[in-house]
Amino acid sequence: MLQLLLLLLLSSTADSQSQRVSGYKKANACVCQLNSTMWVFPAPKFKYVLEEVHTCEESLNNLQEELTFSSQRLPLIQDQFTNFTARLEPYNYLHSQGLYTELSLRQLGQELSQLQVDIDVVHSQLNNSETQKLSKEADRLHKHVNKMQTIDTLNMKTVKEKLRYLKNNVETCKSIPKDFRVQDKHCVRGLITNISDPITTKVSPHGKSYISGSWGKQAQNESEGQKNSYWVQPLLSSHIWGNTVRLYQTYEDFMASTNHREFTFASSYSHPSTNEGPNAVLYGEALYYHCYRSADVCRYDLETNEVKRVTLPGTGVGFNNKFPYCYYDCRLNSDIDVEADETGLWALYATIGNHGNLVISRLVWDSEVKSLNVTQTWETRLFKKAVSNAFMVCGVMYATRYVNEYREEVFYAFDTATGKEDNSLAIPLEKVAKAVASLSYNPTNKQIYMYNDGYLLAYQAYFRSEAL
Ligand SMILES: *[C@@H]1O[C@H](CO)[C@@H](O)[C@H](O)[C@H]1NC(C)=O
Ligand SMILES: *[C@@H]1O[C@H](CO)[C@@H](O)[C@H](O)[C@H]1NC(C)=O
Ligand SMILES: *[C@@H]1O[C@H](CO)[C@@H](O)[C@H](O)[C@H]1NC(C)=O
Ligand SMILES: *[C@@H]1O[C@H](CO)[C@@H](O)[C@H](O)[C@H]1NC(C)=O
Ligand SMILES: *[C@@H]1O[C@H](CO)[C@@H](O)[C@H](O)[C@H]1NC(C)=O
Ligand SMILES: *[C@@H]1O[C@H](CO)[C@@H](O)[C@H](O)[C@H]1NC(C)=O
Repeated sequence: MLQLLLLLLLSSTADSQSQRVSGYKKANACVCQLNSTMWVFPAPKFKYVLEEVHTCEESLNNLQEELTFSSQRLPLIQDQFTNFTARLEPYNYLHSQGLYTELSLRQLGQELSQLQVDIDVVHSQLNNSETQKLSKEADRLHKHVNKMQTIDTLNMKTVKEKLRYLKNNVETCKSIPKDFRVQDKHCVRGLITNISDPITTKVSPHGKSYISGSWGKQAQNESEGQKNSYWVQPLLSSHIWGNTVRLYQTYEDFMASTNHREFTFASSYSHPSTNEGPNAVLYGEALYYHCYRSADVCRYDLETNEVKRVTLPGTGVGFNNKFPYCYYDCRLNSDIDVEADETGLWALYATIGNHGNLVISRLVWDSEVKSLNVTQTWETRLFKKAVSNAFMVCGVMYATRYVNEYREEVFYAFDTATGKEDNSLAIPLEKVAKAVASLSYNPTNKQIYMYNDGYLLAYQAYFRSEAL
């Protein structure tokens, strides 16, 4: 610091104060007159520099203090971190195994409460060591589940959740009131209340061995071209890829498996326009589906044979079997699902950005500029791998889970018009085989189509307002 000070002083004298002095001869000597004021010690400057050094020292001291403080605090913070990590571990395990949803935690809690009630009854009647042990065990389990729930609502999660909620509201605002449900005369208010037993049951025309694919009826009312057509889209290669769609002009032809037309929309099973995973839907004059090894949705025009595509929005859109439908059995490469309803076309998928939870994007075909667009995106809190399938009705997404080999259950709904969700549903769907490859709703007749291993099933959906 002394050296620095010296340097500053020297430089301050050197540059501004140098002066040329001329001498003269006086009695054999050279005399020159010096203006001594230039040598005067620059006290004000010194004072200034000294002050600078002091303040510098002060801030250095402050910095030093802060450093000491942080290095003392850091281990404490790290300890806290370690503690949190340890407490979160069971929760993380569930999460990484794809088994976790807040819903499943809550359900576990409810189930345990019921168990405790049952145990209490037995305990009050018998009151022996066995029932005491049982009672304690249930208590301990319940506390554990409650703890997991409180950890779950820690600040970071809450903040993120608020953010998601706001984001969804913004997306909803984009569509209200111009073109959404309020305006859509075909949309019923209220959720699905009941689903009939299968009203159509048929083995896939390609045979029962093709366990993955999708099928349905033309989903657009106004469409002239394929007005009442039924279509089947099996995944002929490894139960993952398909490049053809089979069309029947009438229900009778479809049921009899006669008079079909086959459309080929990709030249091979690894072509960029190949269909990957069970997810297709026929809407108007085009088949919409997830395209080969990409985050894209394709639109194959049955009239022009042209394929157009759009990339889905989101950070780390899952494809290539990253976020398939999984509840019981994972259905290979069912990452991106395309659906149609009264309000138009939708893509259901999951992103890393939304922690593997379901994301809903609205698709629009702009026929003027021949472009497939995404207009809005909502983020749900439903872990995609924890549902067996999903479909859209009037802007509401419904998700199903496996109950047993012969039954699925609609258990969750997310309304894009309000951003609200309901996970208290329990609407059963009977089926004939274990796994559900695809499930989609048809707005023209309010039927639901299921590709159930090699079986094709259809159901009638009922709504609250119709029952009233
Ligand atoms: C000495 O120098 C100072 C400033 O450089 C000047 O103001 C002053 O007039 C000079 N004195 C003489 C005697 O030349
Ligand atoms: C974490 O901290 C809490 C309270 O601060 C303590 O009760 C608990 O035992 C700690 N857990 C671990 C795993 O260190
Ligand atoms: C069971 O018996 C113990 C002692 O015999 C008693 O303290 C306890 O309250 C009883 N519990 C119930 C649930 O009856
Ligand atoms: C729902 O549908 C099932 C089967 O079709 C029927 O048995 C049941 O009564 C219906 N429930 C309601 C509430 O409509
Ligand atoms: C769709 O996207 C294209 C290209 O970005 C754009 O020109 C067109 O206006 C969009 N259409 C709609 C309906 O958003
Ligand atoms: C389709 O048309 C039928 C009658 O033509 C009508 O009852 C139905 O509500 C329409 N559905 C849609 C989604 O446009």
